[in-house]
Amino acid sequence: MSDGAVDLQAQAKEARKQAYATPLQELNPAVPGLFQADAHWAYFERLRAEDPVHWTPAGDLEAHWGITRFNDIVAIDTNHQVFSSEGGITLPPSAARIAAVEAQGGGNAIGGMFSGADQSGQPRGPSMFIAMDPPKHDVQRKTVSPAVSPSNLAHLEPMIRREAGRILDSLPIGEPFDWVDRVSMELTAMTLATLFGISQEDRRRLTRWSDVVMAQPGHGVVDSWEQKRAEMTEYGMYFMKLWNERVNAPPAGDLISMLAHGEETRGMDQFEYLGNVILLTIGGNDTTRNTISGSVYALNKNPDQYDRLRSNPDLIPSMVSETIRWQTPLAHMRRTAKEDFEFEGKSIKKGDLVVMWYVSGNRDETVIEGDPNAYLIDRERPRHHVSFGFGIHRCVGNRVAELQLRVIWEEILQRFPDIQLLEEPKRVYSCFVKGYERMMVRIPKRN
Ligand code: HEM
Repeated sequence: MSDGAVDLQAQAKEARKQAYATPLQELNPAVPGLFQADAHWAYFERLRAEDPVHWTPAGDLEAHWGITRFNDIVAIDTNHQVFSSEGGITLPPSAARIAAVEAQGGGNAIGGMFSGADQSGQPRGPSMFIAMDPPKHDVQRKTVSPAVSPSNLAHLEPMIRREAGRILDSLPIGEPFDWVDRVSMELTAMTLATLFGISQEDRRRLTRWSDVVMAQPGHGVVDSWEQKRAEMTEYGMYFMKLWNERVNAPPAGDLISMLAHGEETRGMDQFEYLGNVILLTIGGNDTTRNTISGSVYALNKNPDQYDRLRSNPDLIPSMVSETIRWQTPLAHMRRTAKEDFEFEGKSIKKGDLVVMWYVSGNRDETVIEGDPNAYLIDRERPRHHVSFGFGIHRCVGNRVAELQLRVIWEEILQRFPDIQLLEEPKRVYSCFVKGYERMMVRIPKRN
């Protein structure tokens, strides 16, 4: 192995050793570095087999119950009466982590937009409908749903196709380039700008803001907490200006106008409005971006599947779903128990945090037919996965995501016989967003 190259097999072997050598009660897969190194798989394999409802001690993130089997995840996700989304849907940092970050001047940026924690680690109340329970959740979800309805998507498709073609036609031939930057980010940002009704010139600002929201300083995106706060303020001001413009204009079909004029949402406060903007920016950005990159990665790692796709483009829709399962762009969602609850022989207490590890459920050997670790683009039930969640919070944008993936691959196959992965990608430092920061590829020639 040459310098700088990643020996994936050796890395996986080492991670497996570590996962099985750790005493079970100390096993903690909620570690961003594990995911960045793609070294989390053996942890989940062991947990599914030995302790599928696992009390996980605090590390960088707060202590919680980790749910790792497919059917258990569905059971928790569909029981919103007991398992609440209020107070946050990602894990808050542990007290030790907060103290360490405060010592570096992190202040209240540490809580993370989705964790429901402020600088003291206390829940700070709901601000976006992904982190709300009924009835408020249902009302706000209903207001944005028309923007991603099948009829609106039918309008969107030609525009996505045109932009996808433009993006692909601008790519260099025979030269290395970063697929994440040139394609995945471009396509998702363009789609999101259209949904929000903002100018295409500003689309990459959305990408930047989406990255900044999720970023921990010192891991590539922002250098300091101060920088993070400053960029978040700019983001907030941009969208407050849009609200003010749209609220004074006649209702239109974009998401901001829908929120500004919706009977149930027009009275929402600034914090709630910006929370929903952030939700839609991230929901529609990181996830789809990482699926687009994941499809190129997976097809390169499985050349037989790439060959099958080339010879049979009808497989694109099932390849898209298989990529969403295999990639699992959001590794988990969190809930909080509203009452004591006996589950699979464990006593979950009121107030306990519960994490549904979608990334593990999607590899559950007892539910996913055939080898769940294999990437197979013609599975019999390709949409049988938990990547979009289940129950009342199931991803509202799932059809938008599938549409973008389908269109980009239809356009790719018409243009390029091959997209070659040149080296292992750089993965995101997070155990929530599972994706790629950089992926160098080369397109040898056009069709
Ligand atoms: C492959 C791409 C995507 C994946 C894997 C994904 C995944 C998810 C997951 C796991 C949830 C939460 C489920 C839960 O808490 O039970 C969710 C909710 C949500 N997603 Fe997505 N998502 C994707 C694309 C999108 C897109 C393109 C949009 C917007 C255009 C979007 C907007 C949302 C919103 C608004 C929610 C909150 C729904 C609610 O609380 O009722 N997502 N998504």
